[in-house]
Amino acid sequence: MRILLTGAAGFIGTHIALQARERGHEVVALDAFLPQAHGPSSGSGSTEQDGFVRLDLRRDRLDEVLEGVDVVCHQAAMVGNGVDAQDLPDYAEHNDVGTAHLLAAMARAGIRDLVLASSMVVYGDGRYMCPADGDVPPAVRREEDLAVGRFDPRCPVCDGAIAWREIAEDTAFWPRTSYAASKVAQEHYAGAWCTLEGARTIALRYHNVYGPGMPADTPYAGVAAIFRSAIARGESPRVFEDGRQVRDFVHVSDVARANVLAIEQVATHPDGLTPYNVASGHTFTIGQMAEVLAGAAGGRAPVLTGDYRRFDVRHVVASPQAAKVGLGFTAEVRPEDGLAALATDPLRTR
Ligand code: UD1
Repeated sequence: MRILLTGAAGFIGTHIALQARERGHEVVALDAFLPQAHGPSSGSGSTEQDGFVRLDLRRDRLDEVLEGVDVVCHQAAMVGNGVDAQDLPDYAEHNDVGTAHLLAAMARAGIRDLVLASSMVVYGDGRYMCPADGDVPPAVRREEDLAVGRFDPRCPVCDGAIAWREIAEDTAFWPRTSYAASKVAQEHYAGAWCTLEGARTIALRYHNVYGPGMPADTPYAGVAAIFRSAIARGESPRVFEDGRQVRDFVHVSDVARANVLAIEQVATHPDGLTPYNVASGHTFTIGQMAEVLAGAAGGRAPVLTGDYRRFDVRHVVASPQAAKVGLGFTAEVRPEDGLAALATDPLRTR
């Protein structure tokens, strides 16, 4: 297949290009080389360089690069939680306006198959069970609770204790950050394009992705990169809240394989947007993750700071079932092995 891969020079895009080529596919590798992700000297302009087509989806004509393409795999995005509300226009520009231009160009080219990088952040605070009120979305955590170390969310009906549950793909959207809002919008634009064009999208909602080539610590980095960078500096990983917040860490090689499976199967999926969670299926607390990383590196032990961030969600755990049934995808790297390897995996410093 001829695949147009956007964000091909990024952390996840690099691994997808590698695996897709190993499977015999032809990859047209596109990247805007944004300074935020690739450093200030990365420049701009529409050129071909080092096997990459340098092109910004918001500004440049895509028609030529889409010629003969069977499927588009769209990874290009501004990532991370965002720093503050001043990031909103950038997230909207890069992730949503860029995607809208891509979809319009795909319609002109008659391409009807898209694999879209989405995220667990679309679910926000996730899903909980209350012994009295059943399946509930959690109440937003109160500042006065967080300040005294009460980190677990409460039932929105009875204010009682609630327990997290695995999130299936039909869970309601609840974007809590600029990035999350832009990912929800991307899915909605892709869904609208499917209706207009009789097209198909597979949206892969990634859990916390880690592995070799991860960008080093930046204001937009996730916790695994932040801890790994602290260890490299000889510092302790600083664990927020009580360290018991739960995530699922999925290795970038598994995420790339999920993408290749989606690329190969999107044409046989029903019209419209089909979402799949991409997760390892193993839960880890942030405290455990810090211990594994620091232990494997022989570095300084993690410290529990009790700090908290207002936008953080407490526990979020995706069910990997639908991807298993619909794509034949099961993660192969166990987080305890992959996270131990991350202690010495090279990071990208731009
Ligand atoms: C992360 C990604 C998000 C991605 C999602 C997929 C970032 C910034 N966030 O969200 O883009 O879509 O996974 O599931 O890339 N923490 C510490 N110490 C620190 C930093 C964070 O203890 O120095 C804690 C936070 O309080 C939080 C947890 O680690 O409880 C995870 O934080 P983070 O990786 O930033 O965000 P996610 O919500 O997991």
